[in-house]
Amino acid sequence: MEENETLDASLGAKKAQEEALNDIENANDEASLEESYNRHLSKKGKISLLMNEMGRLAKEQRAAFGKAVNEAKQKAIAAYEEKKASFAKKKLAERLEKEKIDVTLPAKAKKKGRINPYYKIIDEITDIFLDMGYEVVEGRDCETDLYNFELLNVPKDHPSRDMQDTFYLEAPDLLLRTQTSAAQSHTMKEKEVKTPIRMISPGKTYRRDDDDMTHSHQFAQIEGLVVDHDISLANLKATLELFAKKMFGEKREIRLRSSYFPFTEPSVEVDVSCMNCGGKGCAMCKGTGWIEILGAGMVNPKVLEMCGYDPKEWSGFAFGLGVERVAMLRYGIDGIRRMYQNDVRFLKDFE
Ligand code: PHE
Repeated sequence: MEENETLDASLGAKKAQEEALNDIENANDEASLEESYNRHLSKKGKISLLMNEMGRLAKEQRAAFGKAVNEAKQKAIAAYEEKKASFAKKKLAERLEKEKIDVTLPAKAKKKGRINPYYKIIDEITDIFLDMGYEVVEGRDCETDLYNFELLNVPKDHPSRDMQDTFYLEAPDLLLRTQTSAAQSHTMKEKEVKTPIRMISPGKTYRRDDDDMTHSHQFAQIEGLVVDHDISLANLKATLELFAKKMFGEKREIRLRSSYFPFTEPSVEVDVSCMNCGGKGCAMCKGTGWIEILGAGMVNPKVLEMCGYDPKEWSGFAFGLGVERVAMLRYGIDGIRRMYQNDVRFLKDFE
């Protein structure tokens, strides 16, 4: 084998390399780049075919030739990869440009629903008592005379029935409950094994009242009931004070005034220091510095007894608060009927 034949062969490799690089360089789209690849680098490509010439060379010259071909191949592959990546980059940039979103275009306004103040206040109150370890008991709107009155120490001819003018239903002894206190009697009576109770029960109540700014024939209450061993009025006061502070602010205080409910003994009316004037006296608290928020008391031993809790062993307290009243005070709502009228302007404002 002649010396210059190797030279020829190596030159051939150099030439093939240049050709391939040129071709790849000139490819101006992906398809022509692939064609260049096939032409030079695929199994039947020009660079690959160079290897067939190896046989014609003297043994000691083969290494140099092989090296030249390999170098041509590596360089062409590198150029091909680089070009391919640049095409991909360009393509992505074009796509991003095309799919650009104009964020300055006006959007379609979406109407968002809101929680009605009625449910919002119930949620807030419920959360406060859940934090204190109470459970929520579901009551029923349609009650029997037994649970709404008799088990709560209001026998049929009792004058206190006049305090709550009742909607009676056609079926005997059925009525729309006048107070969520019916959930007290249910909870105590229906416990098969008499265990301690810590519950609240929110729900609607109904009375034959004439509707005005502060009265409605339908309103909501939240009943609370705690029964255990050695429950005292101090427990009631501490609980309601904590509630008042969480609901109306750390600075609020409460006071108990003696009152009467057939199912509690003693009974109290609970006032909270005015959240508007801080107790100095204003129009909202009618100059007194106090605002009544609920009725409460120690569960009457007669009620405990009728519901199966031995009053020698058990004692408890109960309270009932007006949901709308608390909502009006908390959110500054100016009339109880706003809570039912479903006036969208009010509901929108309310947030
Ligand atoms: N049920 C009473 C009412 O509707 C409120 C109340 C509940 C009072 C529990 C004492 C204890 O006026």
